[in-house]
Amino acid sequence: MKLKTKHLLTLAELSPKEFVGLIDDAIKLKKELKKGGNKPILKNKTLTMIFQKPSTRTRVSFEIGMSQLGGYAVNLSSSDMQLSRGESVEDTAKTLSRYTDCIMARVYDHELLEQLSQSATIPIINGLSDTFHPCQILADFMTIKEKKKKIKGIKIAWIGDGNNVCNSMIYGAALAGATMSIATPKGFEPDKNAVKEAQKKTKIELTDDPVKAVKNADVVVTDTYSSIHDADPTKTKKFLPKYQVNPELMKSAKKDAIFMHCLPAKRDQEVTSSVIDGPQSVVWDEAENRLHSQKALLASLIRG
Ligand code: CP
Ligand code: NVA
Repeated sequence: MKLKTKHLLTLAELSPKEFVGLIDDAIKLKKELKKGGNKPILKNKTLTMIFQKPSTRTRVSFEIGMSQLGGYAVNLSSSDMQLSRGESVEDTAKTLSRYTDCIMARVYDHELLEQLSQSATIPIINGLSDTFHPCQILADFMTIKEKKKKIKGIKIAWIGDGNNVCNSMIYGAALAGATMSIATPKGFEPDKNAVKEAQKKTKIELTDDPVKAVKNADVVVTDTYSSIHDADPTKTKKFLPKYQVNPELMKSAKKDAIFMHCLPAKRDQEVTSSVIDGPQSVVWDEAENRLHSQKALLASLIRG
């Protein structure tokens, strides 16, 4: 898919056509891989990955994705870089632009990604910031498309913390023409601007009632109550038992609703083991689809 944007920081950079095009490319790449392997469309291309925070899925799916397309990934922990000793973001971006074809960074402050994108001459991909997680949402809508055969008109219920994944899902819903009902405790609502922007294009409803949110939902989604950047064990008390996705809550959604979670999950907190391991859960397909959807993204951004 040819993209107008050079970088992917939030999803707001994409048009609906580009978003759908990336998902379709990802589905094709997945089929091609399962038939015997992908064509080396990123032969000799390199991705540099910078991690300020831990990761399992993002790191492995980007690294293996590059190698499946004939390229190569370099992994850096920000604490190993001169950034940690005060080298500027600008100088880091300019230097890395001379070595590598693309940077994927997982950061605390989203502004760091913006600074990287302003100084780099190569594409910057957000591998999660405190406020957004666009790569997760590409994989999530790919999964919805596979399971529900469409993304337009789908109702998504988000239960729990209105966090970075939720913010990106709001942009994804607007691009897909899906609707969202978001149930959070008061004070844990998603980013106001993301909601305002998305509401110009689709229905995004905010509530504090999980049962209301899941009514007629095709997809029920949650995430941990505490994210890496706000690790606060006392937060859990504000969410439980009301904001737990359990079999009883799932019963209020559509009969054929699917359950999604970006993972890692805190079992028996935001979701019961019975739901995450149950027949409605698609979390392993969702995790796998990080690989395919990011390959589609890398191919589009690196090849230009
Ligand atoms: N969902 C996700 O981004 O997982 P990791 O933190 O393991 O990369
Ligand atoms: N909201 C979580 C997502 C982890 C993939 C976090 O930021 O820690």
